[in-house]
Amino acid sequence: MIELDTFGRVAKQFGTPVYVYEEDKIRNQLLSLRKNIRYDPKTILYAVKANSNPHILDIIKGPGVGIDAVSPGEVSLALMAGFLPSSILFTGNNITDEEMDFVAERGALLNIDSLSRLEKFGKKYPGSNVSVRINPDVGAGHHDHCITGGPKSKFGIWYSQVDEINRTAKEYRLKIIGIHEHIGSQILEVDKFLAAMDVLLKVAPNFPSLQFIDFGGGLGVPYRPEEDPLPIKKLGQRMSERFTEFCGRYGRPLTLVIEPGRYLVAEAGFLLTKVNTVKRNPDGRVFVGVDSGFNHLVRPAMYGSFHPITNISNLNGEKEKVDIVGNLCESGDKFAEDRDLRQAREGDLILIGVAGAYGYSMSSNYNLRPRPPEVLVKPGGILQLIRERETIEKITGGTK
Ligand code: LLP
Repeated sequence: MIELDTFGRVAKQFGTPVYVYEEDKIRNQLLSLRKNIRYDPKTILYAVKANSNPHILDIIKGPGVGIDAVSPGEVSLALMAGFLPSSILFTGNNITDEEMDFVAERGALLNIDSLSRLEKFGKKYPGSNVSVRINPDVGAGHHDHCITGGPKSKFGIWYSQVDEINRTAKEYRLKIIGIHEHIGSQILEVDKFLAAMDVLLKVAPNFPSLQFIDFGGGLGVPYRPEEDPLPIKKLGQRMSERFTEFCGRYGRPLTLVIEPGRYLVAEAGFLLTKVNTVKRNPDGRVFVGVDSGFNHLVRPAMYGSFHPITNISNLNGEKEKVDIVGNLCESGDKFAEDRDLRQAREGDLILIGVAGAYGYSMSSNYNLRPRPPEVLVKPGGILQLIRERETIEKITGGTK
């Protein structure tokens, strides 16, 4: 837990808005996965799209940890951060030939998302190892935008197209060493994971050269105070049992792979902002305007997502129903509507929680506002600036 006065120190030293991350929390989440998924061998591929700060990658890097990358940029970042090419799985969707070559030349394993790409990969790289992403016709997630399995999802090769996969693989002597699924994001029900797992394990015996099976990410975290966390112990137990039983039938032990993004970093991160303006309208509506917006944290505007919000400058103030809004020229620029907040005064520090995943990584320069800096709170409350605040000069600099 980060002490409240630490946030005060961060604000004083680095200004607001600012992203703040707790190193210990990230380590503990990683440990929780290792401990609760007992099956071995296993590999944890960190979905770097959740938070791609290189210092965060340093914390996560270690034995048994690789990277789930979805773009050439993410592959490059993983290599720069010191991950071996063999520990990177590239799950690009709808990619170009150039992107395929970029990744293949760097030695990362491609996880192929369509029959058409499998054919193109085979033609260019016959005799290679490859993995395929399967759509198991099971989807889940906190919002339609984040469901990546089932008939409406653009991802993966439909689970019944096994013969087509094998035909193409045979034609180009491709060795299918892995199969993969990822059914969605922010899933809190064990049953969804298991239902998808069962489909993939049913398909798996069709592929005799497997070295691993990758069940994707999607592990959820509690955002609302009353929300129960994912029962990770139960999930770990059920997954391990099923996988052990499967490997028995398959005839040899395979590596179990998962690809958590949010689970590792979400709860470790905060967006610390300051109140610029309090507006009290005659009809009683109160707008608390902070010095950030959906350019820095888009989840509430994009998915209607809930993030816990606390006025850390007035912990004992009266509670008031307010809209917590940003500084962008859009009405949808709201972090929360009709939210109970301890009375906010101009200059107060407002802390937005569970912002470590898909916060900074989805940020933009919309309205030409610079991105905030990122600060890591190390054990003992030591502060480390891990990314500078952007400058107006940088974001306005074009080719002129
Ligand atoms: N593996 C693949 C292939 C993925 O596409 C994703 C996320 C993950 C793993 C990691 O998922 P996680 O464990 O973080 O749920 N922007 C949305 C989330 C989009 C997730 C996209 N794919 C949000 O803010 O809720």
